[in-house]
Amino acid sequence: MENTQTTARRTIAFVILALAVISVAYLASPGFRAGRQGTPPDLAGGLERDNRMLGEADLERLFPDIVLRAAKGNEKIIALTFDDGPDDVYTPAVLDVLKEKQVRATFFLIGNRVEQYPEVTRRIIEEGHLIGNHTFTHPNTGKPLGEQLRNELERTEKALAAFGVSPSYLFRPPYGALTAPAAVEVANMGYRLALWSIDSLDWRGLSKEEVLNNVIPHIAPGRVILQHSAGGPGEDLSGSVQALPEIIDYLRQQGYTFVTMDQMFPLPVQAEAANCP
Ligand code: NI
Repeated sequence: MENTQTTARRTIAFVILALAVISVAYLASPGFRAGRQGTPPDLAGGLERDNRMLGEADLERLFPDIVLRAAKGNEKIIALTFDDGPDDVYTPAVLDVLKEKQVRATFFLIGNRVEQYPEVTRRIIEEGHLIGNHTFTHPNTGKPLGEQLRNELERTEKALAAFGVSPSYLFRPPYGALTAPAAVEVANMGYRLALWSIDSLDWRGLSKEEVLNNVIPHIAPGRVILQHSAGGPGEDLSGSVQALPEIIDYLRQQGYTFVTMDQMFPLPVQAEAANCP
């Protein structure tokens, strides 16, 4: 009996001691002291709000009205999209496949490459594909660019205007990343953020099989597939080009129809109705 009481007393003493230690630790903690002692030192890299890179999933959560990643509903439609072109190697190869298979796709073009490869740009337009804006120089839009972003978009619009087309209302930010203020700015320019829901990861120089493995298991109604029709210096996209006919054949077998991103995500009807007499 005596032993049990001693043990109980020791336990209580231990609990009190533990609570005391936790309280002292809390009062000494940075969070508590920051709240008590005013503003902490500046963050060397700037505010999280201004610097945090927002990826596809974050952008969709924060800006559901302007982010396009996948169509709602069960309609068996798929959008094939190709970034970073044009070039004179992979873009013509992608166009050859699309022509043979009679599929219209969406190309997110880089303005300075549009100027560098006018013949390939013309071919994309003539073969009925949709063009989206992927900036003029492909800067990292995940970081604050200030005035440069608007400039990038407008220069690409101008480069495309020389071909008699505009980059629709679709803007795909390089690397799929954007700051929150930039998302608001491009929305004010009339753009929608054209992201994707299936990433082929082809930019890693993958084999045909690897590209297929990154795409086929994720197929579902309303998905947007991301591939590239050009890369940086030395990047190999041949696996992606080789996978393309098989992706198309598989989707057709499964009963899918191919649409461009403006068909998949038409602007609100009232915007078009305003143009009617
Ligand atoms: Ni890109």
